[in-house]
Amino acid sequence: MNWRKLWKRRTERPSLSEEGIPYHVAIIMDGNGRWAKRRGLPRIAGHRAGMESVKRVTESASEIGVRILTLYAFSTENWKRPEQEVDYLMRLPQEFLILELESLIKNNIRVCMLGDLEALPLWTRESVLEAVEKTKSNTGMMLNIALNYGSRSEIVEAVKKISDQVKAGTLQPEDINEQTLSACLLTNGIPDPDLLIRTSGELRLSNFLLWQCAYTELWFTDVYWPDFRKEHFYEAIHAYQKRGRRFGGLK
Ligand code: IPE
Ligand code: IPE
Ligand code: MG
Repeated sequence: MNWRKLWKRRTERPSLSEEGIPYHVAIIMDGNGRWAKRRGLPRIAGHRAGMESVKRVTESASEIGVRILTLYAFSTENWKRPEQEVDYLMRLPQEFLILELESLIKNNIRVCMLGDLEALPLWTRESVLEAVEKTKSNTGMMLNIALNYGSRSEIVEAVKKISDQVKAGTLQPEDINEQTLSACLLTNGIPDPDLLIRTSGELRLSNFLLWQCAYTELWFTDVYWPDFRKEHFYEAIHAYQKRGRRFGGLK
């Protein structure tokens, strides 16, 4: 086979069955730093290049009919990084939205945020809230950006909310069930992810949607996030379509 044919085969969209499109896809976008290091560039160059992948994946997810795309952009633990890197990461959402908001609106995409927005710098918070506001009546795919998100603190906050209700006498401890807790999470009303993708070869969840991923299909790739292309996304969807989900039952 010549190189042209090989290339074509690599970039072809695999046949995806429409009914098997995951409703909710979550992505841990990892490997920006290593991508940059490999090129002798500063880490922030990797974060900038990663923005292009966000654009590409948002487009393809919306195109194939994914209803919710949740992207892990900054974790509650990422504050531990050098100040300069954190500052840059906090500027990225604004940069992304300045460039992309128009096309998100045109594509009927609704931007939502997941995480503790209070702790964000004012300009970051304002720009993301503006995008949420301007896209709130869109009826297409939900683009859920996890910014300053951490699953454990989300669960702790949920437990506090439940305790308050018990203390106020509006909830009996014996009535607490899985739905009670789910409803107190930041993802309230959003169905659990069907498919979770993590790039860069790391095989862990890094405090992302721990409760919500109880029965999510996991798909890992060694590709660094800035190198992630539509064909990698299709590959993940294709793999998902071949899985047998049992939720503890029998097929
Ligand atoms: C993911 O890339 C982006 C964020 C965590 C914000 P990294 O910055 O973690 O890149 P690596 O893992 O160091 O290569
Ligand atoms: C997870 O990646 C967080 C995001 C992608 C935003 P990290 O790079 O922070 O995770 P660890 O430190 O490798 O577990
Ligand atoms: Mg990383």
